[in-house]
Amino acid sequence: MENRTHIPIKKEYLVDNVLMNESVDLPADVEKMMRLLRRAKVRHPAVFVGTASSGVISGAGDTLDEIRKYLDERNIRADVVETGSAGYSSMEPVVEVQMPGKTRVAFRNVTAGKLSSVLDGIFNSIIPEEHVLGQHRDRALEIWKDVPFIDELPFFSLQKRNLLRNWGRISPLSIEEYIATGGYRSYVKTVRSYTHEEVCDIVEKSGLQGRGGGGFLTGKKWKVAHSVFADQRYLLCNADESDPGGYANRAMIESDPHRLLEGVLIAAYAIGTSRALIYIRNDYRIAIERLEHAISQAREFGLIGHNVYGSGFNIEITVRKGPGAFVCGEETAMISSLEGKRGMPRPKPPYPAVSGLFGKPTVVNNVETLSNIPAIFENGPDWFMSIGNESARGTKILVLSGIIVNQGIIEVPLGTPVKDIIYGTGEGIPDNKTFKAVQIGGPSGGFLTSENIDTPYDFSSLASEGVYMGSGGMVVLDESCCIIDTVKYFMDFIQKESCGKCIPCREGTSRMLEVYENITRRPVDANGHTTLERFKGVMQLESLAGVISDTSLCGLGQKAPNTVTSSLRHFRSDYEEHIFDRECSAGVCKELRLFQIDVNKCTGCTVCAPKCPESAIIGTRHHPFFIVEEKCTGCGICYDVCKFSAIYVK
Ligand SMILES: Cc1cc2nc3c(=O)[nH]c(=O)nc-3n(C[C@H](O)[C@H](O)[C@H](O)COP(=O)(O)O)c2cc1C
Ligand code: SF4
Ligand code: SF4
Repeated sequence: MENRTHIPIKKEYLVDNVLMNESVDLPADVEKMMRLLRRAKVRHPAVFVGTASSGVISGAGDTLDEIRKYLDERNIRADVVETGSAGYSSMEPVVEVQMPGKTRVAFRNVTAGKLSSVLDGIFNSIIPEEHVLGQHRDRALEIWKDVPFIDELPFFSLQKRNLLRNWGRISPLSIEEYIATGGYRSYVKTVRSYTHEEVCDIVEKSGLQGRGGGGFLTGKKWKVAHSVFADQRYLLCNADESDPGGYANRAMIESDPHRLLEGVLIAAYAIGTSRALIYIRNDYRIAIERLEHAISQAREFGLIGHNVYGSGFNIEITVRKGPGAFVCGEETAMISSLEGKRGMPRPKPPYPAVSGLFGKPTVVNNVETLSNIPAIFENGPDWFMSIGNESARGTKILVLSGIIVNQGIIEVPLGTPVKDIIYGTGEGIPDNKTFKAVQIGGPSGGFLTSENIDTPYDFSSLASEGVYMGSGGMVVLDESCCIIDTVKYFMDFIQKESCGKCIPCREGTSRMLEVYENITRRPVDANGHTTLERFKGVMQLESLAGVISDTSLCGLGQKAPNTVTSSLRHFRSDYEEHIFDRECSAGVCKELRLFQIDVNKCTGCTVCAPKCPESAIIGTRHHPFFIVEEKCTGCGICYDVCKFSAIYVK
C-alpha cells in the first residue's frame, strides 16, 4: 500500500516530539512539520481522490489511474493521495486539489473522462465551474475567488464533523498523517498517566452512549467489565454492520482507521485487557485491508504490543472476519461466532460484560462508539457533554438515502430535528415531489411523517414516537413510494435473517411476510370473501407483533415488528387501498398495477403490443390502442417502451 507519507520523517521524531510530548501546544517547529505532514501546507501540488468503497463504486479507481497518467504524461510533480470518503456519496468520485499557497478545492463527480478538464483548469489557476464543489477554509492560505466555502454548502452547514473531521482530508494509509492531526497523543497520555478507573470515569462523565443501537452508557459498561475479577478480559469491536443501507461503520474504517484503533486501544486499557478483537464482515474488503494496514503501522510505532511506551500496558489487536449475517451483529451471537460456534444469540443476563467470550468479561462496542473516544480524551468530557441535548450527548453519524437531493454520510449533533436534517443537510425532495415519510433505523426502525418530522434525533425522543435509531439509517420516501412495499422489503429481510432459534421470530416473521405478500398480490377473484381474508390478515398483524416482540430471545425478533406497527399507525389508508381497492396508487406493487392507455396521447405506433407477454394489448396502427384489463398482469413492459407517455398506471 502506498501513501505512507510524502515527506521523509523518522518515527523517532514523531514519538519523541509529538506522542510523548504532554504539553497541549507543540513547539512551533514541530507544529510546522505537522502542518506539512497533514498537507495543510504543500510545496508542490497535491491531488486527492476518495477511494473508499462509495468512491470506487462510482469509478474512483479509474480516476486514480487517469490522474497518475495525466501527471506522468505532462511530467508534473505532484503528490497523489488516496483518501477515504468525504461523505457526499452522490457526488463521488470526489477529487480535491491543493496548489502551493492556496486553499484546497474539491470537485465532484470526477470520473476518468472528466479528469483532464479539472486538472487542466486548476493547474492553470482557472476553476472549472461545472465540477467545483467548494474550497476548504484555511486562514493561513490564499482563497480562490468566487469559489464557495465547503462548510457553507447546505450539505455541510448543519453538520458538526468531529468523527468525520479527517474524512477526505488525510490518507487513511498513513499513520504519520493521523499523528499530525493530533492522533494517538490521547492514547499515549492515557496509558502513561491515568488509572483504568480514571479512564472509565472520564467516559462515563462524557455521557457517551453506545452507537450500535442500544444506547447503553459506554463508561458504565466498561466499569462493569473492569470490576469483574478475571484472569482474562476481552474487548470486541463490533464492525458487523449488516442492515440494508447501513454502511457508515465501513466508511469510518475506510476513511480514518487509526481513529477507531485509538478508541480500541484506550477502551482496552480502560477495562484492563491485553486482547482486543475487531469483528468485521468478510466482504468489507477495502475496510479490512486498511484496518490491517493501520494495525501493522501502529505496531511498528510501538502503540500495539508489549509494554506500550514504558507504561506496562500490553495489547494485541486481531481482525476476525464474520460471514455477514445480520444476527451476528447481536453481541451474544457475535461472541458465539468468535468461539467457533454457529452465530446464534443466547439469553441475557449474564451480560457479556460479566460473562462473554469464553466465559470471560467482555466489552462489546460499536465502531462509532469507539471512534468517539479519542476526541473525548483530546477535548475532555465536558466538551462532549456540551454537544447534543439534555438526553443525548455528542454527535451521531447518519446514512441519508432514498428520495433526497443530497445523499451520503453526515454527522450532526444528537437532538437535531429530523426535519432540519432532511430539508437542511439533505436539501429536501428532488423534482418538487411531496414528502411522504422517513424510515429511520433500518429493519428494526419505524416511520416519521410530516406530523412528527420535528422530532429531535436522539434515542429517547425517537423512541417516544415508536422509532428506534438503530445504526443510523435514514431513508426518505416521497409520494411515489409505497409504504406497504417498503415494510414488505424489511420484513422479507428480517424473515430471511432470523436465525430460527426461537419460534415466534422464525414463524411469526414468516406469517407477517405472508400477509404483505397477500395484500400486494392481485386476488384470484374479487369477491368480498377474499377481501375479508386479506383484511383479517392485517388485523392479525398487531397481535402477532405483540407476541413476536414479547417472546423473542434477541433484539432481531423483539424489534422486528416495529416497522409494521409504525406503518399501521401512520398509514392506515395505504393498507385500506391495497386491501379493499386492490390498488397501489404509487404504482409500486407490481402485481396490483393496472395499466391503461390514454387515447389522446396514443399515436398507434404499435410498439407496445408485440412486447406484451400476455398479448393484452390490442389495436390497429395509427389508432389508439387498448389494454384488456383481465389479461394485464401489471408487468409494466408496455409502460417502459411507450415513447409517447401514453400508458399510465390506473
Ligand atoms: C440483530 C442485531 C444486529 C445488530 N447489529 C449490530 C451491528 O452490526 N453493529 C453493532 O455495533 N451493534 C449491533 N447490534 C447491537 C449489539 O448487540 C450491541 O448492542 C452493540 O454492539 C454494543 O455496542 P455499543 O454499546 O457501542 O452500542 C445488533 C443487535 C441486534 C439485535
Ligand atoms: S429472536 Fe430471531 S434471530 Fe433472535 S434468537 Fe430468536 S430466532 Fe434467532
Ligand atoms: S407504444 Fe404508446 S403510443 Fe405506441 S401504440 Fe402503445 S400506447 Fe400507443
